[in-house]
Amino acid sequence: MKTSFPKDKIRAVLLESIHPAGVEMLEREGFAVETRKGALEGRHLETAIKGAHLLGIRSKTAVTPEVLAAGPRLLTVGCFCIGTNQVALNDACHRGVPVFNSPFSNTRSVAELTIAEIVALARRLTDKSAQMHHGLWDKSAEGAHEVRGRTVGIVGYGHIGSQVSVLAEAMGMRVIFHDIIPKLALGNARPARSLNELLEAADVVTLHVPATPLTENLIGPRQIAKMRPGALLINNARGSVVDLAALAAALKAGKLGGAALDVFPDEPAAKGDPFDSPVRGLSNVILTPHVGGSTEEAQEAIAVDVCTKLIRFINNGSTTGSVNVPQVELPEQASLEPDGDERPARKGERLREDAARRAAPPGTRRHRILHFHRNVPGVLRQMHDLIAGLGANIAAEYLQTTRDVGYVVLDVDPTDAGPIMDGLKKIPETIRVRALW
Ligand code: NAI
Repeated sequence: MKTSFPKDKIRAVLLESIHPAGVEMLEREGFAVETRKGALEGRHLETAIKGAHLLGIRSKTAVTPEVLAAGPRLLTVGCFCIGTNQVALNDACHRGVPVFNSPFSNTRSVAELTIAEIVALARRLTDKSAQMHHGLWDKSAEGAHEVRGRTVGIVGYGHIGSQVSVLAEAMGMRVIFHDIIPKLALGNARPARSLNELLEAADVVTLHVPATPLTENLIGPRQIAKMRPGALLINNARGSVVDLAALAAALKAGKLGGAALDVFPDEPAAKGDPFDSPVRGLSNVILTPHVGGSTEEAQEAIAVDVCTKLIRFINNGSTTGSVNVPQVELPEQASLEPDGDERPARKGERLREDAARRAAPPGTRRHRILHFHRNVPGVLRQMHDLIAGLGANIAAEYLQTTRDVGYVVLDVDPTDAGPIMDGLKKIPETIRVRALW
């Protein structure tokens, strides 16, 4: 069989300075890894991925349908970031190319920044630091507060919001939260009955909601009017969530005590590009350039998370965590040697999970066939007719579908693998077949 080949023939192209932890993981697997500092586009990108099996990018590389067409060997794409809209996901799906990302690896970084900002604003650190840099020594405690005993209102109690909840409670803060779906309250946190109730009760309001039509200008003049005098507002979520003109007016009028903003409606595209905002120049506002999730720890965690998913797909066929193809979680390929209570599976029978999970070295295990196909009626029948016609023994079969694409995985005896592969390639709806052994 010619479809599976040695790991050192698997070529991984990593662009945009992927963290070394990811490079090491792929190299440890035996893949041939090429790295580049920057993004590539157009013909340069098409040339780079010509013989590549794995492409790793961050947010700046556009993987268009043309780029995918230029990489016929591409097995999978890893987005070493959160967003995946730089990749033509549908096109990749129709080529049987799973795309993976890392949605939660920087959660803790955003939560920690939020806590730091709450303390910094409560202690008026921005003013104190600016005064010192201007040569002014003012030891006064006026306007500086502990956060212990204060109430933080978390809007959006998802991954980041719930981490903020845990950290804030550990510092002695009372936590209330508001979410559009019911959420398990962690520790002593309690849900507010409404956004308005939260705004009226919180000394600090921190936003951790996604950008959706519902969250656009979620905090505008009416919501700010409900907030407590001197309250703090933090937005490390998305720029569209806060009406900045209303916020600037409230800060200037002394209605709010301070704000911290990491995200903006119009963010400059590149380093050095000009930035302006109605809140610029206000001393009680902390401004950061969308760095909430940007820590070395988060970059490393992203690299490890995405590489784990890429390696699992390449070595074992699992698509868990993919954003564009049916998700199938697969056990390790089972050994051909019957051991303990394992007996050879009868035709069509699933292997017992515990036996199947024991990894066996290549060459001593059942062969695994990975089959992406167009999801139309009749494909499975053709596949099963083929297998029945060959008299082949199927040890395990897994299937998941999305609207357009199906993903079937078959664990078979080595002698049956070649003829099954050949037959599957002839099914007109087949998108891609690959074998592992
Ligand atoms: P998540 O999806 O885990 O949580 C979001 C929560 O908001 C969910 O529980 C959801 O039900 C809730 N929600 C949605 N609409 C709502 C509404 N109208 N009112 C109240 N709750 C609502 O997302 P995660 O990972 O916690 O991220 C939160 C935000 O942080 C996102 O906007 C994300 O883009 C942003 N983010 C910012 C980063 C930065 O560098 N500043 C880095 C990472 C994420």
